[in-house]
Amino acid sequence: MFYLSEVKLTKFRCYETYAVQFIPHINIIVGNNAVGKTSLVEAIYCLGLTKSHKATNDSEMIKNGEEVAVIKGFFQNNEEKDEIVLSISEKGKRVNKNNKIESTLSKYLGYFSIVMFCPEDLGLVNGVPVFRRKFLDVNIGQINKKYLKSLINYRKLLKQRNEVLKVFNEKQGYDDRFLKIITNAMIDEAKTIIEERKKFIFLLNKHLFGKCDYISGEKEEAKLVYNPNCDVDNLFKESELKKTLDRLTKTTNWGPHRDDFSILINGKEASKYASQGQQKTAALSMKLGLADLIKTQTERIIVILDDVFGELDLERQNRVLKLLTFDDQIFITTTTIDNLSEQVLKDSQIIHIENGGE
Ligand SMILES: Nc1ncnc2c1ncn2[C@@H]1O[C@H](COP(=O)(O)OP(=O)(O)O)[C@@H](O)[C@H]1O
Ligand SMILES: [Mg+2]
Repeated sequence: MFYLSEVKLTKFRCYETYAVQFIPHINIIVGNNAVGKTSLVEAIYCLGLTKSHKATNDSEMIKNGEEVAVIKGFFQNNEEKDEIVLSISEKGKRVNKNNKIESTLSKYLGYFSIVMFCPEDLGLVNGVPVFRRKFLDVNIGQINKKYLKSLINYRKLLKQRNEVLKVFNEKQGYDDRFLKIITNAMIDEAKTIIEERKKFIFLLNKHLFGKCDYISGEKEEAKLVYNPNCDVDNLFKESELKKTLDRLTKTTNWGPHRDDFSILINGKEASKYASQGQQKTAALSMKLGLADLIKTQTERIIVILDDVFGELDLERQNRVLKLLTFDDQIFITTTTIDNLSEQVLKDSQIIHIENGGE
C-alpha cells in the first residue's frame, strides 16, 4: 500500500520546525482553533498538487518574516521509499524527488492523487462559477494529462486572444488573420476540455450516487448537471456570433472558461433551496464520490477531511465515517474526538497539536 509515512515542515505557516509520523489508515489531527491543523493538511495537499487549496499567493504559506518554506514528505510504497521535498520561496517553487530536482512542476504532478474536503468547499454549492471550474480543472487534471495539456494551451490562447482584442480597440485595426488562427486553435482545445468535462461529470455522478442519500439518512440524493457555455459542436458558430461583442468588450465571451455546473438535491437547485447542512452534505458527497472515481485510475490516493464535522449532526458525522474505506490513507482534522465512535477510534492514530506543533 502507498502511504505518507512522515512529514517534516520548516518555516511553513505557523510552524518553525515540525515532524510527525503517520499510519497507513486513519490519522486524526486534534487541537484547538488556530493551532495549525489546517496548515498541516495544507502541506500534505501541496506535496500532491504543488499548490495550496486555499492560498491565493504561494508566499502566504511561508512563515511570516521568513524567506523559504520547506515541506518534506516520505512516502512508503511496499518496500520502496520516496522522499519528496517541495520548497516555496518568493522566487517560486521547486520539487525534489529522491534528491533529484524535477524539471517542471507539471511533470511531477500525478505522483499521487489527493482529495480534500474543507469548509470552503461549501462554495462548490453556493459560490461563484469560478469555484466550480477550479474543481473541474484541478480534479480532471489530476487523472487526465490530455486535459491538463489542453487546459494550459487554452489559457495561453485565451490570454493572447484577449490581448489582440484590446489592441484592436485602441488602434482601430488589427491583424484579422492572426485572430482567426488563435480562434481556431482555441476551438480545438475547447473541444477537448468540454468533452472531458462532460465525461468527468458523468462518471462523478455514477460514483456520487447513493452517498448523499446515505449520509442524510435516505433523505437527500445529489446530482451534478453540467452547463457548458457553448455546445461542443457549435464552437465555431458561437465564436462568429460573438465577434462584435468580443470587440466591444475587448474580451472573449464564449468558451469553456465560462462553463459551470449545478448541484441538485432531490432534483432541485441546491444553492437556492438547500439548508447549510444539506449543502455541506452534498459538497462532501461530491468529494467522497471523487475519491472513488480517482481510485478507479490509481491506487495512490490520500483523502483529507478538514473540519468536516462542523454543521453536521452526530448521525451525519458517523455515517460519513462509515463511508470511509480502510484501504486508503485518510487525514481528519477536528477540535474534539469526544463524539467519534469507538470503532473509528480503535483503527486511528490520534495526533494532538498545540501551537504550531510546539
Ligand atoms: N504565513 C504564516 N506565518 C505565520 N503564521 C501563520 C501564517 N499563515 C497562517 N498562520 C497562522 O497559523 C495559525 C494556524 O492556522 P490553521 O492551520 O488554519 O489553524 P487550525 O486549522 O488549527 O484552526 C493561525 O493562527 C494563523 O494565523
Ligand atoms: Mg482549520
